Amino acid sequence: MIQPKPQQGILEIELYVGGISSVDGVQNVLKLSSNENPNGPPLAAQKAVARSAATLHRYPDSDHIGLRNALADLHGLKVSQLICGCGSDELISFLCQSFSGPGIEVIHTSHGFLMYKIYAMAAGATIVEVPERNRYVDVDEILAGITPRTGIIFVANPGNPTGTLIPDEDVARLIAGTPKDVLVVLDGAYADYIEGWDGGASFVSQHENVVMLRTLSKMYGLGGLRVGWGYGPQHVIDVLNRVRGPFNLSTTALAAGEAAVGDHAFVCAHRIENQTCRNWLREALADIGVHSDPSGANFILARFMDRLQAENCDIYLQTQGVLVRRVGSYGLPNALRITVPDMKGCVRVVSGIREFLEYST
Ligand SMILES: Cc1ncc(COP(=O)(O)O)c(C=O)c1O
Repeated sequence: MIQPKPQQGILEIELYVGGISSVDGVQNVLKLSSNENPNGPPLAAQKAVARSAATLHRYPDSDHIGLRNALADLHGLKVSQLICGCGSDELISFLCQSFSGPGIEVIHTSHGFLMYKIYAMAAGATIVEVPERNRYVDVDEILAGITPRTGIIFVANPGNPTGTLIPDEDVARLIAGTPKDVLVVLDGAYADYIEGWDGGASFVSQHENVVMLRTLSKMYGLGGLRVGWGYGPQHVIDVLNRVRGPFNLSTTALAAGEAAVGDHAFVCAHRIENQTCRNWLREALADIGVHSDPSGANFILARFMDRLQAENCDIYLQTQGVLVRRVGSYGLPNALRITVPDMKGCVRVVSGIREFLEYST
């Protein structure tokens, strides 16, 4: 049949399946499937959303200067080297569109965030997947995967869905071993959970081929508004701005983002809460035989005996209203990714998994 055909490679993209948020007939749902902030958005951001309503007949600010200034002040970065995206997802797409394409290879690690692969394939690039070592990014494997055709290397630190963190020394070794014409993208979507860490910003300042990505979807509780940002060398940011739609962030998203970035008390409190609850959850699950790696993020990756046990546990938890994330599509069929909830939620997760283990043995 004669019909319009999409670009080569697009039909090979597997549809992204997000975390589930409801189960038919189940009440009192605890949604832990998308790494959202259990406390919701900061109050300051909610008020900014309400205030923005009166100006919605106007197009949004196209250079995002208010939000970029707020981010530059908070992180001590150059405002001209910042770019905002409709989620950091959009910035991943800009990077792939601008620095990859047919004949160009994009490297990601075996359990890397799925959007790297999806946007690289959408740009017609060739995907090169390199192994991780026990769920940790392996710099030697990445370096071994570089060829003269490599255009971009994507590394999330901490990783999603592993939660594991590699030290700055490893990142430095990765950058040192990468040719200067290859872009190294350090995705710090969860960097805000690590106190005092810059998420890789200092590497951007020192190198002409390093970009850092961040998001307000996790720590800042704004996943529903889609606000991400990137920091890169000026020549890279100038390229990304050429493919960016002028009004990619709405007035409401910009206002909420700026307010959220200024709410230091919210961030500090949630960072501490996340760490306390994450440690408790990890240890309580380990006590019942369900182990996970140390996580630097707002989730843990709980490992089960095999795929069947992980899937059956997921099904049982769903009947209890506890919604977690299967990660078979990330090459981790025997694991479930669990967003860290508040302490009450943590107790509910552990009880649910304990009950499942008791019933199933
Ligand atoms: C590692 C990583 N990068 C990027 C993103 C995209 O975040 P957003 O588009 O919501 O900013 C996510 C979201 O889950 C993520 O886990």
